[in-house]
Amino acid sequence: MKLIQITDLHLVVPGSRLHGLDPLGRLDRCLDDVATRHADAEICVISGDLTDRGEPSAYDALKTRLENFPLPVVLMLGNHDNRENFRSVFSDYPVDDNGFVQSSTQTSWGEILCLDTLAPGRREGELCQKRLDWFQQKLEQVQERPVLLFMHHPPFDIGIPRLDVIRLEQPGAFTSIVTRHRQNIRHLFFGHVHRPVSGSWNRVPHSALPALNHQVPYDSVTPVMAYNNEPPAYAAVLANGENIVIHQEFFLHRGALPDIS
Ligand SMILES: [Fe+2]
Repeated sequence: MKLIQITDLHLVVPGSRLHGLDPLGRLDRCLDDVATRHADAEICVISGDLTDRGEPSAYDALKTRLENFPLPVVLMLGNHDNRENFRSVFSDYPVDDNGFVQSSTQTSWGEILCLDTLAPGRREGELCQKRLDWFQQKLEQVQERPVLLFMHHPPFDIGIPRLDVIRLEQPGAFTSIVTRHRQNIRHLFFGHVHRPVSGSWNRVPHSALPALNHQVPYDSVTPVMAYNNEPPAYAAVLANGENIVIHQEFFLHRGALPDIS
């Protein structure tokens, strides 16, 4: 089973730029690359910060772009998103019983669980009791099937102070659920950090990706948020039996090597 992860689009009002870059243009390049190279993927997950400021016109632009995209797409929200505006534009998009943009999708390999960690008006992530109950219930329903878990905010520190203060807040209850179902949860994918990060947390392997627009440099000292122009990437995830492999695709940098012969 092949899955595509794209994260942190930060789309703005069409025609405007963000940090000197063109997020909508980058989304077009990314979707073209996925459609060309990975049309055999079963599903694509976009793991939050679909927009930078949550304007309806930014969501409209995303909706238009996805109309001709060949893969089924799971959409998630990040701290830069606006849940009401998202739901007004993606009016048919499924939500849980409490209106959170959480989803469970079966694939040929296992279950894709996507959580909604958006806390309106705040940059930190939250999982209230209603969202935790949904998560617990879904994990009980999957029984023995393997799970790939997606959430925008990481539930742990990654060693960059300006990001660690805006990770998932109060992760204790969430961690307890993960611990109880660790045999099912084969990998945790997150966004939010705008850089390639991987490791394991609570004995669960995890990974994050560069964002599609601007990146966060590795800096273990400076408390003030800063961005840079490191290259964007998406992930092609291969899940087969007990084996999970994650390729990072630097879709803007596919030039040939210089001819030195
Ligand atoms: Fe972001």
